[in-house]
Amino acid sequence: MHSGTFLTQFILEEQRSIPNATGDFTGLLNDIVTACKTISHLVNRGGLIDILGTAGTENVQGEGQKKLDVISNEVMVKSLEWTGHLAAMASEEVEGIISIPNQYPKGKYLLLFDPLDGSSNIDVNISVGTIFSILRCPDGVPEPTEKDFLQPGTQQVCAGFCIYGPTTMMVLTTGHGVNGFTLDQDIGEFILTHPNMTIPKDTGEFAINMSNQRFWEAPVQRYIEECIQGKEGPRGKNFNMRWVASMVAEVYRILTRGGIFMYPWDSRDPSKPGRLRLMYEANPMSFIVEQAGGASSTSQQRILEVEPEGIHQRVPVILGSKNEVERVVAYHKEA
Ligand code: AHG
Ligand code: MN
Ligand code: MN
Repeated sequence: MHSGTFLTQFILEEQRSIPNATGDFTGLLNDIVTACKTISHLVNRGGLIDILGTAGTENVQGEGQKKLDVISNEVMVKSLEWTGHLAAMASEEVEGIISIPNQYPKGKYLLLFDPLDGSSNIDVNISVGTIFSILRCPDGVPEPTEKDFLQPGTQQVCAGFCIYGPTTMMVLTTGHGVNGFTLDQDIGEFILTHPNMTIPKDTGEFAINMSNQRFWEAPVQRYIEECIQGKEGPRGKNFNMRWVASMVAEVYRILTRGGIFMYPWDSRDPSKPGRLRLMYEANPMSFIVEQAGGASSTSQQRILEVEPEGIHQRVPVILGSKNEVERVVAYHKEA
């Protein structure tokens, strides 16, 4: 028997502590939980059903879609459009915003999501996940348009991700710290297993795609070079490297034992200001990381303060253990 708190109970108790809460937000979170359980189930079935491999299509970002990208997107949309908690949605896999069909009531929240993060890893059986960000729909807007979504990350009501790894876990923040829940597959419920997750201020572990090294700017070159020099270098200590190429796995590791994750600006394609997308990757992850005591920056400013210009906009990302992120930012200032 479990003695732990169920995610449903946890959300409900948080709601009770907010005066005048209507239960809409609790309802929305429960809907997202249900969608993630469905995706978790499908990811776990893998090669047993015909869902691996490429879909043969491209998304708006010109990236090849995996079958599971398309299926996970469909699960999110179909699980959330009818419940009456959302005014509209936006997804990595869909160019414009996703309206709520007319036959369903509209709610007061906007949801942005990356239905399957790290999907280039899906066929090799490495952790993938779903990332989401919840915003309030501006007052008096019956039919939201893209511009209603363009709110800075500081406006997020809630952010979370579900990681489909050796265990399926949901990690959430509503601005009061970060909590982690593990899916008990037997009973189909998420149980609070990692209350109050915090990121150590210092770390000896970095994550960056080293194959892009020749395209980085000088401050990033300097930081990584100093890590690699280890005990004999200016840092006077050895560093370890991890790179999963799946942001959910990277952020989860950092929440567990610290570290720094970087997908910085690089000169590969000057039209792209970064690899990761602000609204459904960088913002929700930054909210979580800051709530856990870490830091998150573009190198020039706090990610959460970036004024968005488009739902699929990209940004440079440097996040994780506070002292290391601040060091990278300082190297940029010095340059
Ligand atoms: P997605 O699968 O949603 O497109 O996102 C993948 C992201 C992120 O998870 C990861 O950090 C990064 O892309 C890896 O990119 P590269 O392999 O191109 O360096
Ligand atoms: Mn992604
Ligand atoms: Mn994705």
